[in-house]
Amino acid sequence: MLKIGIIGFGRMGRLYAEEFVKNPLWELAYICDTCTEVRKAAADIAPAAVFTDNEDLLFDDPDVQAVGLFALADSRPAQLYKALKTGKHVLAEKPLADNVRTEWELAEAVKQSNLTVAVNMFNRNAWYHQTIIDFIRSGEIGELAIIRIAHMTPGHMPQEGHGPEGPCFHDCGMHYVDVARWYAGSDFDTYHAQGVRMWSYDDPWWIQAHGTFKNGVVFDITQGFVYGHMAEKQTHNCYVDIIGTKGIARMTHDFKTATVEMHGVTQTIVKTDGFKDKKVDIMIDVFARSILAGRNLGYPTVEDSVIASDMAWKMFDDAVKNGAPCIGSPDDMEEILRRRRTMKQGYGLPLWEVINGAGKNPS
Ligand SMILES: NC(=O)c1ccc[n+]([C@@H]2O[C@H](COP(=O)([O-])OP(=O)(O)OC[C@H]3O[C@@H](n4cnc5c(N)ncnc54)[C@H](O)[C@@H]3O)[C@@H](O)[C@H]2O)c1
Repeated sequence: MLKIGIIGFGRMGRLYAEEFVKNPLWELAYICDTCTEVRKAAADIAPAAVFTDNEDLLFDDPDVQAVGLFALADSRPAQLYKALKTGKHVLAEKPLADNVRTEWELAEAVKQSNLTVAVNMFNRNAWYHQTIIDFIRSGEIGELAIIRIAHMTPGHMPQEGHGPEGPCFHDCGMHYVDVARWYAGSDFDTYHAQGVRMWSYDDPWWIQAHGTFKNGVVFDITQGFVYGHMAEKQTHNCYVDIIGTKGIARMTHDFKTATVEMHGVTQTIVKTDGFKDKKVDIMIDVFARSILAGRNLGYPTVEDSVIASDMAWKMFDDAVKNGAPCIGSPDDMEEILRRRRTMKQGYGLPLWEVINGAGKNPS
């Protein structure tokens, strides 16, 4: 068993804790969070783990082989440097830092170490993307030409946490920037972005970016948490739409199941299976097996995550430069925030005890 301590026990930290407890390769020894309101959930999920607000307990324990960095992007760099210094393997959430320069410095430091450092770019663990990529590589759609990706939900609002992660096109959109680059198998070349400052908020909360990869493949990425927050019955629009010279492949999901439809020159395949949320079970399994094997058995890398973060910021900046118009008013935004505070189920709702407890002194 590999002994791990995790830092950050919010929405993501809890998903990880549940999986670490279930997976026989892992022993979850520590849970660290500066918000004491979350202590009870830690005891419920992982009664054998030590709950602490002192991250150094994990780093100073020589029996801890790995750390999970699941707090926010502003505290991650110092924690990652501590892990490298104390020889711990790292599973980190994205983005690695709250600015790209620090992310590239971290990437360089990781390269100099011989530790296993993975970043949860969760789409890379998704069966539906892997299925489509295999189909493209088999030649069934001819030559890959166009990648279209959308991720629009009535999700995370300004003021609901994740400040250091940046606006939603960076916080969430970097995943789809990464997916586009992964499908293209090439690096970004040109891009142009248009945004909307919904509710007249400071930052665009919906952005569409389009452009080219170095291999000539073109893309469009649409991301926004603006999709019908006040609708009586909320819905979303999330898809991947891949167009080749001869065929197409596409995917939609409803956050419970995902459906892949592939129309190739010799095969027509429709497949539906579980969406499997953030695929954390797969992530921690491949992370453990990679540590034991001493090589990457398929986990998403620091470099992929930093490139995605860097490009998402560039596209966001381009949308700002291109003059994202204001639509709606701060009152509209307040109305949505009020509704979300009373919702029990919804898209990307924060953990209110974390939001309300944030900034309190640990006691
Ligand atoms: N890969 C994905 O699909 C995905 C999805 C959601 C969030 N995330 C990332 O995961 C991270 C956590 O997101 P979340 O939704 O769980 O946030 P959250 O706000 O629910 O939880 C963050 C937790 O970290 C704690 N914390 C903050 N600073 C700390 C510190 N210095 N030491 C210890 N604890 C600290 C907070 O008290 C809180 O409990 C974010 O960086 C976010 O970008 C990734």
